[in-house]
Amino acid sequence: MNESINHLLYKELYRDNIRTMETMRRTVTCGQLRQEDGDKNVILNGWVHRNRDHGGIHFINLRDRYGITQIVIDQDASDELKAIAEQVKFEYCIAVEGTVRIRPESMRNSDMDTGEIEVVAAKIEILSNCLTLPFMIDEESDAKEELRLAYRFLDLRSTGMQKRIKLRHDFTFAVREFLSDNGFLEIETPTLIKSTPEGARDFLVPSRIQPGKFYALPQSPQLFKQILMVSGFDKYFQIARCYRDEDARGDRQLEFTQIDMEMSFVNRDDVFAVTEGMFGHVFSKAVGITLPENFRRISYDDAMNTYGSDKPDLRFDIPMTSFDDFAEKSSFNAFKGVLENGGCVKALVAPGCAKYSRKLITELEDAAKIYKAKGLAWMKVSENGFEGGVSKFFNDSYQEIVDHMKASVGDLILMVADSWLVTCNSLGAVRSKLGKDLGLLDPNRFEFCWIIDFPLFEYDEEGERWAAAHHMFSMPQAQYLDTMEENPGEVKGDLYDLVLNGYEVASGSIRIHDPEIQKRIFKIVGFSEEEAEERFGFLLNAFRYGAPPHGGIAPGLDRMLMIISGETSIKEVIAFPKNSAGISPMDDSPSPVDDEQLKDLHLALDLPPVKEQE
Ligand code: AMO
Ligand code: AMP
Repeated sequence: MNESINHLLYKELYRDNIRTMETMRRTVTCGQLRQEDGDKNVILNGWVHRNRDHGGIHFINLRDRYGITQIVIDQDASDELKAIAEQVKFEYCIAVEGTVRIRPESMRNSDMDTGEIEVVAAKIEILSNCLTLPFMIDEESDAKEELRLAYRFLDLRSTGMQKRIKLRHDFTFAVREFLSDNGFLEIETPTLIKSTPEGARDFLVPSRIQPGKFYALPQSPQLFKQILMVSGFDKYFQIARCYRDEDARGDRQLEFTQIDMEMSFVNRDDVFAVTEGMFGHVFSKAVGITLPENFRRISYDDAMNTYGSDKPDLRFDIPMTSFDDFAEKSSFNAFKGVLENGGCVKALVAPGCAKYSRKLITELEDAAKIYKAKGLAWMKVSENGFEGGVSKFFNDSYQEIVDHMKASVGDLILMVADSWLVTCNSLGAVRSKLGKDLGLLDPNRFEFCWIIDFPLFEYDEEGERWAAAHHMFSMPQAQYLDTMEENPGEVKGDLYDLVLNGYEVASGSIRIHDPEIQKRIFKIVGFSEEEAEERFGFLLNAFRYGAPPHGGIAPGLDRMLMIISGETSIKEVIAFPKNSAGISPMDDSPSPVDDEQLKDLHLALDLPPVKEQE
């Protein structure tokens, strides 16, 4: 009964609009009309982008996702039409019927695709009104992020967002096209799974039917894709949603999307070839850019030594070099002490930066200190030797140092001495800052590289134990198999990252398919057999039934799109992202739930005390 009343009410309220779509449904889009359409009668539907009154003549810029068309309400238009033209405000949704008029040469607008024409309105109908806008819908909106997210439905109307969401579609479409053409099957894996934390915290979902038990949302489809290999699916992919309960940052979201892939009977080169082929196809189809057939390969050690990062930005050079020999020969005790303690000294040349003020050098030092460097030593290269900073310790070796570092007069030499990792990371941070400050980050260049030969384990200082550097299912390289327990820190794994312009955009490995090797890995990272069985038993069990050798990779879709779009936040390529506090200001999630709901789930809350407002 109620429903039919609602229905009648709906029909009553929207009767006019229903009829409008009978008579005023668009015949062209707002991006379509050109000179050759002159004199045609057309109907357009769209949003009012601008409405200007030029002394009795109204110009309405009508917008939809295809473009903008100028509508004209001429001076001799009917009073009724003029009245409607007066009435329509920003973002009203309207229908316009009219005739295409070719603009005189002098009135053409080459900035608009439809700039050769305008549509002289004969009839305008308002499809819906719009409240006063919280911000202007513009490509270059300077609205605050919170406001943009709260009114995301409006923000998504902007040219920039529309372009990026379209790019996202084109990109994933091309991914599916390539992988499907190459024999991959897209298979969905569950999003309610057993909690098997992969590195971050799991998001948990309480079960109503199984009191006290929880599902987890997958951090990635890792275990399921490996099981699909055991099941003989050979080549799998999925545009997969992943969930990780961690702090959201510029290039991270709580939920994000991976192009998840796995293959059987492959080695590392096979995985690389498929990935290179896929991005070659996708970049050419969706981005209009030809990539090199193969991407450079750099070992983890070389990347750290030369660029101070396992995700180097190769759009600019500025390599780091060893400064050990010069430090050894010098009388600079801060450096010599580090060498005696088994550390190292590294240096780089900041081109043309001898003119840097103390303040700018301190800013570079601050970047180094974030990564625990004790300082950033510097000296300027001049015709008369090194000047300033620590120059007095190194002037005896001036020519040798200049030759070794390929430095020129006017350059600034920067040095860090510390343990290997601290030295690499902190001077690497200085290199990154220089790349940015010196304007060397060309947004139109896409420099991919593979980072290979990663350590399989890293030492967890806090937990005082070895941990898997990637995840626990990656294969150690063959030469370490016999001896990996003796010195886990030395073991290199068959794991790899794909890096683009200084971001890790994909990660993968050849997996362990032998239960014995898997057991040894669990043991090294301090997982008891019971614990391993409890957490990953289903995978280990599957491996006992004829597991094929397999490997895979998972490119992060959002990060790739962010880089291609020249953005620094992945929110710009996601339709409905969360803010850095994990909140979606539009739908206000996460939100409290009813006591009833909690009761159904057998849950009681134990909340921290509310902090006093300051
Ligand atoms: P990994 O955890 O390295 O590997 O993730 C793979 C890629 O996913 C992207 N990524 C993210 N993007 C946005 N927000 C996040 N919070 C986030 N976390 C990761 C990155 C990263 O390179 N199962 C393995 C892959 C495999 O071994 O096949 C995995 O998930 O671009
Ligand atoms: P000091 O002799 O301690 O006054 O240091 C002289 C300069 O060397 C300062 O600019 C310090 O920042 C820098 N410095 C000291 N220790 C280190 C280090 N371990 N690595 C890099 N620079 C350092």
